[in-house]
Amino acid sequence: MSVQPSDSFPDRLLGWYDRSARVLPWRIPPGSDAVPDPYRVWMAEIMLQQTTVAAVAGYFERFTARWPTVADLAAADDADVMAAWAGLGYYARARNLLACARAVVDEHDGRFPETEAGLRALPGVGDYTAASVAAIAFGRSSVVIDANIERVMARHLLIETPLPVAKREIRAELAPLVPPDRPGDFAQALMDLGATVCTPRSPACGICPVMADCRARGRADIERLPVKPPRKARPQRHGLAYWIEKDDAIWLVRRPDKGMLGGMRALPGGDWGDTPPAESGIVQVDHGFTHFDLRLTLVARESEHAAGEGEWWPLSALDAAGLPTLYRKLTDRMRERIA
Ligand code: ADE
Repeated sequence: MSVQPSDSFPDRLLGWYDRSARVLPWRIPPGSDAVPDPYRVWMAEIMLQQTTVAAVAGYFERFTARWPTVADLAAADDADVMAAWAGLGYYARARNLLACARAVVDEHDGRFPETEAGLRALPGVGDYTAASVAAIAFGRSSVVIDANIERVMARHLLIETPLPVAKREIRAELAPLVPPDRPGDFAQALMDLGATVCTPRSPACGICPVMADCRARGRADIERLPVKPPRKARPQRHGLAYWIEKDDAIWLVRRPDKGMLGGMRALPGGDWGDTPPAESGIVQVDHGFTHFDLRLTLVARESEHAAGEGEWWPLSALDAAGLPTLYRKLTDRMRERIA
């Protein structure tokens, strides 16, 4: 038989949230009469996928200052949006961000759909994002489960089933607890609890508002929960990138729209494969992607190799090129060498 938190779990959690909610730029503070802006809620949720609040904050401020409404974003140049996203990673999210803004403008009169199903039909909006935007922006009683919420609930209910299967149990337990009058605050309270109290390492059980009926409370092995699936080994891949310099400028290209780092500005180079390159290169960097590790070797080429589509980019203005982190690592290393 599964264990339920006591009936007052949502009350205790929301009481704590009323006192301790994090102040975040996309969030309406608890108790405020302000109405959430679905555009800002949606943008924050897309940016926060696989990324921390700390990493997202500056990007969120810059994006919403430059494109204050979904119509502004829909009208933006693809290249500007991709460059502004540089450094946040998972670049397919940036392409989907634009596609979604355009779908909202073209197909929904510039207003986000208010239901989970309606949101789910938008580009780049998966189950999690649909549920969270429906709850936070539109007050729908959806069940929101992100990594923080998984951890809080797996511990509270002492769920030993490994993720991702455990998610089904968590959903079944959480659904009846969602308070119909404050579903968005409830979801964000669980997120905040996971981020600030029920942390992956050394959770602060002593100050937890729902400690009384936590099944994992006091256990020395609480950090073991949630149980993760066995890790798969990540393959090692290799690639070459070319440093082609002329008159204090370097040759930059744009990556094909489809595939890794699609649509992003990049150093030119060959395909990535399983064997290390024959050339030893000027510098090497290692970069971890979700499904593989890449070792990229930078080799110098004469300016005749600056062929096809591309542009000479002044070395003094490299910061404005919007290079993704992989290439930033190489150009930073080269600048150290040149300096
Ligand atoms: N992580 C994902 N969405 C969030 C939100 N709305 N507030 C805080 N952390 C989050």
